[in-house]
This record gives sequence, C-alpha cells and structure tokens, in this order.
Amino acid sequence: MSEEVPWYLDDADGSPEGERLQKVLAQRGWGSRRTCEILISEGRVTVNSEVAELGCRVNIDLDEVHVDGVPIGIKPDLVYFLLNKPEGSVTTANDPQGRPTVFDLVPKYAGLHAVGRLDMATEGLLILTNDGNLTHAVTHPSKGVEKEYLVQVSSAVSSGAIRTLRDGVELEDGRTSPARVSQPEPGILRIVIHEGRNRQVRRMFDAVGHPVNRLVRIRIGPIRDNKLAPGSWRALETPEVIELSKACGLERYAQRP
Ligand code: URA
Repeated sequence: MSEEVPWYLDDADGSPEGERLQKVLAQRGWGSRRTCEILISEGRVTVNSEVAELGCRVNIDLDEVHVDGVPIGIKPDLVYFLLNKPEGSVTTANDPQGRPTVFDLVPKYAGLHAVGRLDMATEGLLILTNDGNLTHAVTHPSKGVEKEYLVQVSSAVSSGAIRTLRDGVELEDGRTSPARVSQPEPGILRIVIHEGRNRQVRRMFDAVGHPVNRLVRIRIGPIRDNKLAPGSWRALETPEVIELSKACGLERYAQRP
C-alpha cells in the first residue's frame, strides 16, 4: 500500500467506476500522487475537456485526460531512461570482451534496449527504453529526427570544409544528407544531422581531413539536458516522451493503455 494514500482512498485496478485521477496521473509519470493532487487542485487537469475535480475517477479506456493541454496516455509499463553515456562504455547488452556497457549504468528492465547507438569513444545523450515503437520511429531514416553533436578537432576547420560538411560528404556508403554545421570556436564545432549511419560524424570529419578528438551528443530531437552528469541517468518526463513521439511522427502518445 502506498504511504501517501490512506487505505480508504486506495482503489484496486479495474474498479467499475474507474480509477482515481491522481493514481492514473502518477502511474504515467506526472509525479507522486500528492503532486498529482496538487495539479488537479490547480485546475491544470481536464477530463473530456472539463476541468477535473479532486477525487474524480476516470475510465482510462474512454476518458480523454490532459495536463496543461498535453494528453497523458503513456502506457504505465513503458520506461524511458536518458543516460549521459561516458566515454569507454559500449552500447551493447553483452560485450564478449567484457567492457563496461551502457546497461550497467541504468536500472535493469525487461526488453530494455538503446535507441540507436553511440561509439565506445562517444559521450552524451542516449535513450534506453522498452518501447520498441518509439525506437523504430526515432531511428528510422525516413523520420529524420535531428541529432546534435559537439565535435572537437585539433585545428580550425576552413569555411570550405564546413561547406562540404553542410552540403554532403561522399562516404563509402553514399553521400551524407545536408547537415547544419557551425564553428563557435576554432576546432569546436556543432553539427546537426538527421541520419544515423555507423560512425557517421567521425567519418564525415575524417573525409574533410579533421579526425575527431572528442564527440559528444547533446540533443536527440527535442531531448536535451546539460545538467546530467556523465554516467548518470534520469527518467524522461512524460511531456518529453510526448514531444519525442511527435518529433518522429508517432501518435502512440495518444493511445489508451
Ligand atoms: N557519429 C559517430 O561518428 N559516432 C557516434 O557515436 C554517433 C554519431
């Protein structure tokens, strides 16, 4: 029994009158039941377009519930972890060479997998989830989800080379799609790509004569976090999952559990 909810308010799943709204919100990641009660009292939650009252029950199969206008329908058994991958860990569940893996850094969860991969030497944001639909959509080339990287090379990159990186670089698996590239400081670049080919950024910079010294992914679609320490993770917030789902054209956030 939850410590926050007195026994007489705690309802079993599948009650014919529906479930208490704060419980439904808490299960979908909007905070503790207490926090969700506050959201309801502040008038930020609507059920079928009406402002919800504390204590109301909802039928999660039928009722349209929104918080601040955002639909809440993330399935409760799906997890979404955002990891700041440190250099030296591999994006694989079982490494035959026994190297540290990104799965050593997050809670164990059935079906958990990485959304795409980062090379062993690459650092930065990596999403791990058991939501195969989201993974498929985020990584599918046709969806074009942006990935932004900071790149450190040994010397300033010429404007000609930057133009080549922007326009497309001939690699052995074909020309790269147009990218956004800037050089905020000599030798430090920002690149936004929307493909996910193997070692793509490193190969692009190799091709223009600037091997990468350090590569950090700082954004995946709308997901960024410059406070997450290397090696740490956090759960994505429900609105972040919804934004990411929208960025890859996935409407699953609107599904009913
Ligand atoms: N591009 C690379 O070269 N490596 C990564 O890990 C990701 C993108």
